[in-house]
Amino acid sequence: MSCSLRPVGRAHRARLETLVRDTGLFREAEVRTAVELLDEALDGDDDYRFVGAFDGNELVGYACYGPTPDTLGTFDLYWIAVDRQRQGSGIGTELVTAVEQALSAVGGRLIVVETSSRAEYDPTRRFYEARGYERTATIPGYYAPGDDLVIYIKDLTRWT
Ligand SMILES: CC(C)(COP(=O)(O)OP(=O)(O)OC[C@H]1O[C@@H](n2cnc3c(N)ncnc32)[C@H](O)[C@@H]1OP(=O)(O)O)[C@@H](O)C(=O)NCCC(=O)NCCS
Repeated sequence: MSCSLRPVGRAHRARLETLVRDTGLFREAEVRTAVELLDEALDGDDDYRFVGAFDGNELVGYACYGPTPDTLGTFDLYWIAVDRQRQGSGIGTELVTAVEQALSAVGGRLIVVETSSRAEYDPTRRFYEARGYERTATIPGYYAPGDDLVIYIKDLTRWT
């Protein structure tokens, strides 16, 4: 599926919240955090950058990323989510590629992604692994008992 990529504006705030919640993967506190990050970005905080995927004027996916504080050329991919009905049709790949290209253009060196070890995240981890993200660390029980933090990195200097 082809969609257009552009910044996420205030008009898409409610849709972003619904989209994140409807993935069924995130706790309600995480949904609130996703919206707070957009609010920060809309208020001009360059630490959180958003790229949205749109079908016409409808937001169907987005990624949020930003520079990791106190590093040289390291960026966090804080969030990526695609409308549940449209997952598996290439939108996530388009978003990740757009983030990587944007970061390479500004001298980005390393992308860090944090995710969960829970079984519901198996497809998410496969998504990252198939796109060149390397599993580098695990913190057992980080999110909750039995729910580990899994850290992936992608070295952009090796891929571009
Ligand atoms: C992970 C996610 C962003 C990927 O976006 P997407 O548009 O579904 O991904 P694409 O269509 O570009 O790529 C599909 C690949 O991703 C993987 N994938 C992950 N979740 C998938 C899903 N729900 N349906 C189909 N494929 C999925 C598959 O392994 C597939 O691999 P393939 O290309 O070898 O078939 C999206 O599925 C999503 O929003 N998931 C829920 C939220 C989430 O996990 N966010 C990341 C939190 S760390």
